[in-house]
Amino acid sequence: MATSSLSISSLQIVAWTIWIFLCGKCLDNAHHHLVVAASGSISALQLKQAKALHETEWWFNSTSNSSACHWEGITCNAGGSVTSIDRSDQGLGGQLKLNFSFFPNLVSLNLGYNSLYGPIPSEIGMLKNLIDLDLHLNVLVGPIPSTIGLLTNLESLSLDGNQINGSIPPEIGMLKNLTRLGLFSNMLVGPIPSTIGRLTNLEYLSLSDNQINGSIPPEIGKLKNMTDLVLYSNMLVGPIPSTIGRLTNLKYLNLGDNQINGSIPSEIGKLKNLIGLYIRSNVLVGPIPFIWDNLTYLKYLDLSVNYLTGSIPYHEGNLYQVEYLNLSHNFIRGEIPVALGSVLVSRLWSLDLSYNNLTGHISPSLIHIKEIDLSHNFLKGRIPDGFNQHHKSHTVIGNRGLCGQFEIFPPCPKSKKSPGSHHKTKIEIVVPITTFIGFLVIGSILFFRCVFKEKQFELRESKNGNLFSIWNYDGHIAYEDIIEATEDFDIRYCIGTGGYGSVFKAELPSGNVVALKKLHQREAENPVFHRSFMNEVRVLTEIRHRNIVKLHGFCVHKRCKFLIYEYMERGSLFCVLRNVDEAMQLDWSKRINIIKGTAHALSYMHHDCIPSIVHRDISSNNILLNSEFRAFISDFGTAKLLDPDSSNQTLVAGTYGYIAPEFAYTMTVTEKCDVYSFGVVALEVLMGRHPGELLSSLSSSSSSSSQNMMLNEILDQRLPPPNYLIGRDVLLVATIAFACLHTQPKSRPTMKCVSQEFLSCKKPNVIPLTTVSLLQLRKQATYMAGSGFAYC
Ligand SMILES: *[C@@H]1O[C@H](CO)[C@@H](O)[C@H](O)[C@H]1NC(C)=O
Ligand SMILES: *[C@@H]1O[C@H](CO)[C@@H](O)[C@H](O)[C@H]1NC(C)=O
Ligand SMILES: *[C@@H]1O[C@H](CO)[C@@H](O)[C@H](O)[C@H]1NC(C)=O
Ligand SMILES: *[C@@H]1O[C@H](CO)[C@@H](O)[C@H](O)[C@H]1NC(C)=O
Ligand SMILES: *[C@@H]1O[C@H](CO)[C@@H](O)[C@H](O)[C@H]1NC(C)=O
Ligand SMILES: *[C@@H]1O[C@H](CO)[C@@H](O)[C@H](O)[C@H]1NC(C)=O
Ligand SMILES: *[C@@H]1O[C@H](CO)[C@@H](O)[C@H](O)[C@H]1NC(C)=O
Ligand SMILES: *[C@@H]1O[C@H](CO)[C@@H](O)[C@H](O)[C@H]1NC(C)=O
Ligand SMILES: *[C@@H]1O[C@H](CO)[C@@H](O)[C@H](O)[C@H]1NC(C)=O
Ligand SMILES: *[C@@H]1O[C@H](CO)[C@@H](O)[C@H](O)[C@H]1NC(C)=O
Ligand SMILES: *[C@@H]1O[C@H](CO)[C@@H](O)[C@H](O)[C@H]1NC(C)=O
Repeated sequence: MATSSLSISSLQIVAWTIWIFLCGKCLDNAHHHLVVAASGSISALQLKQAKALHETEWWFNSTSNSSACHWEGITCNAGGSVTSIDRSDQGLGGQLKLNFSFFPNLVSLNLGYNSLYGPIPSEIGMLKNLIDLDLHLNVLVGPIPSTIGLLTNLESLSLDGNQINGSIPPEIGMLKNLTRLGLFSNMLVGPIPSTIGRLTNLEYLSLSDNQINGSIPPEIGKLKNMTDLVLYSNMLVGPIPSTIGRLTNLKYLNLGDNQINGSIPSEIGKLKNLIGLYIRSNVLVGPIPFIWDNLTYLKYLDLSVNYLTGSIPYHEGNLYQVEYLNLSHNFIRGEIPVALGSVLVSRLWSLDLSYNNLTGHISPSLIHIKEIDLSHNFLKGRIPDGFNQHHKSHTVIGNRGLCGQFEIFPPCPKSKKSPGSHHKTKIEIVVPITTFIGFLVIGSILFFRCVFKEKQFELRESKNGNLFSIWNYDGHIAYEDIIEATEDFDIRYCIGTGGYGSVFKAELPSGNVVALKKLHQREAENPVFHRSFMNEVRVLTEIRHRNIVKLHGFCVHKRCKFLIYEYMERGSLFCVLRNVDEAMQLDWSKRINIIKGTAHALSYMHHDCIPSIVHRDISSNNILLNSEFRAFISDFGTAKLLDPDSSNQTLVAGTYGYIAPEFAYTMTVTEKCDVYSFGVVALEVLMGRHPGELLSSLSSSSSSSSQNMMLNEILDQRLPPPNYLIGRDVLLVATIAFACLHTQPKSRPTMKCVSQEFLSCKKPNVIPLTTVSLLQLRKQATYMAGSGFAYC
């Protein structure tokens, strides 16, 4: 049984395939190389291009006397003229000096993530055919040249993470084809030009983290295709223009950390696709309007630190999808609606109502909310029973009238009717039957949706100027805290090492514990590992699921790169299964839940994300367990977004022992590769050890004795045999696992089928596991895959 990760050379292959995926035009390039090579002769333009490129010193071994078409990062058209230059993440220094007059055919210029300094030359305006200009994360200074307005074919412009100053040139309004404009984390001043209203194709606009002043131009309402409008951390004043209500495609609106005043316009209620609304730290006044009825996708609402008054806008049916609600630091009055904590109507997992003027009692239903802060209000009466088991005292401190549960509060009078008791009857109505709750909890899993381009992260530059980090939205985690908590990654805090890095445990000053995955010094400088690292960041910032590990942030530096995760107390499933004590704690129902959770997460990645995400390295090593043994899929370094328009051919990625057999001959990535690996993991969890030997003996000869083994014989012998109720689940999991392990990818079920099969109330009949042979099980699996899955 071998479960070690593939060697470094295979990892390099993996990273290479990711690169191919990211620049889908590579296959075309290969074709063009041949054309150029065959034609032989080199034109004057080609020589001029080679000379100009050679002079940039962006290639260490370039020469100026031959075509540049075969150089790394260069693409040419059939005539041998350069169409694309990609020198991103090459550690380039120096100024951005390229004689642009020789590149009439250039459509893509990508010099992002280097250390280029100095101004952006105004001659860049000569690149009339440019579609994609990416200079993000450099050290460029000076203004955005007004000649940028000449690049009328531009569709994507990324200048984020530089030190660009001056104001945004009004000429930007000439770039009518622009769909993405990223200028965040610079030093821009002055107003948002009203000409921005001409960029009617714009889908993404981020100007955050600058010193832009003036008010938001009403013309912004013309950008009807906009999905992401990110203006936080500037010096914007004035009202939120009511024209914003016309941006009906908007998914994320972040106006936080400005000085926006006036009240919240009711037109926000027309943004029916909104997922995240962040307006924290402004000077908004007035009540929160009852505008949420149409916002059926709203999940994140942050209106903290304003001067809002009135009561919490809740009535049956609205705020239904909201998972994160932060109204702290306002002047909100009235009672906390009981329904906020009801598992029937609310999906809240984080509720911050601290520092308001709320009155009334704390409803017992609020216990269900995972993260809660009700401190510094005027709440009174009994703190509900069990509140102290789920939450700490600081979450209710500063409410003079409370009693019970925590030592800091006086005990409640032992009277006949305690002050809060009438609410108890209410909760019984809200949460009537346990089975119904179970059903709803399961149902809510189906409601997870992919959150793409979630702008919860801020890009910052640290003091030393060379370190770029992405911090979690509320700035909880600071680089210095991490260095302090781990004593600069001292070995004592190391809790594991893996293919390309070590994992550290850090307890932050806030008391939160996080896990840090840090690339080894040598690997941090290797672009191959860097890509794998960035791939993980890209995937994890875009997805969110209760069974996928949460990324809090990351830090990128030329020699120090690390990811910040939610800490998982129990470590990997692999380790837990190999430790007798822990394996015994992992009883049958916990094991079944781990398998189900993993299935739901994979179904979400494959079927709810667009494009779908294939993990490619599902193994017991990459499934982590929290203190309650809940499963979290981790390690997305090799994950791949499946692009329906490109070939999904690739080279091997994954862990030996979990890789689907067809990989060897098709080299094609499909979701079915993950399905196979899931089957291996599911069996491993039931057996308590890797099923490699069993699988090879089952496949080697049809008459083998393993065919006649009974299901109970392969189960983990360290646990008592499952009782008959859980036995049904074990049988279902085993059947599904064998269906997933079918050698023909197309005969394997999809993860959606598997997930829904687990969610269905239909269970196999109760049969003693001592009477089910593996042969029968595999037959049943084949039958199920063929037609027997009820939910496909
Ligand atoms: C430089 O060397 C690399 C690696 O050997 C090679 O792929 C490339 O074609 C060479 N020339 C240039 C200009 O990059
Ligand atoms: C280009 O120049 C290099 C040295 O600068 C020389 O070795 C090479 O032969 C030249 N190639 C051609 C095709 O002229
Ligand atoms: C680019 O090349 C042209 C033609 O040789 C020359 O006139 C121009 O000065 C050059 N520009 C720069 C910025 O070097
Ligand atoms: C903009 O995009 C359209 C449609 O893709 C294209 O026809 C046009 O040439 C592009 N450029 C300009 C300057 O409009
Ligand atoms: C922009 O920054 C550069 C370099 O720091 C400085 O010389 C220049 O005066 C600044 N320009 C403006 C408009 O602030
Ligand atoms: C907006 O998006 C739609 C659909 O993607 C597209 O057809 C349209 O051309 C885009 N631009 C404008 C100005 O509506
Ligand atoms: C915006 O900032 C610029 C530069 O700091 C300043 O000159 C200008 O007066 C400010 N405008 C407004 C409307 O505050
Ligand atoms: C908002 O602030 C601006 C500038 O500080 C001020 O002129 C305006 O009167 C304020 N508007 C409201 C509604 O308070
Ligand atoms: C909700 O949408 C409907 C239909 O688009 C619209 O008539 C209504 O005014 C909206 N409600 C609010 C509160 O914005
Ligand atoms: C709510 O917002 C405040 C202020 O912006 C912030 O300090 C707090 O951490 C937030 N609460 C949660 C639970 O995120
Ligand atoms: C909220 O409470 C504060 C502190 O007691 C008080 O000064 C203020 O008037 C109250 N505001 C509202 C709107 O109730």
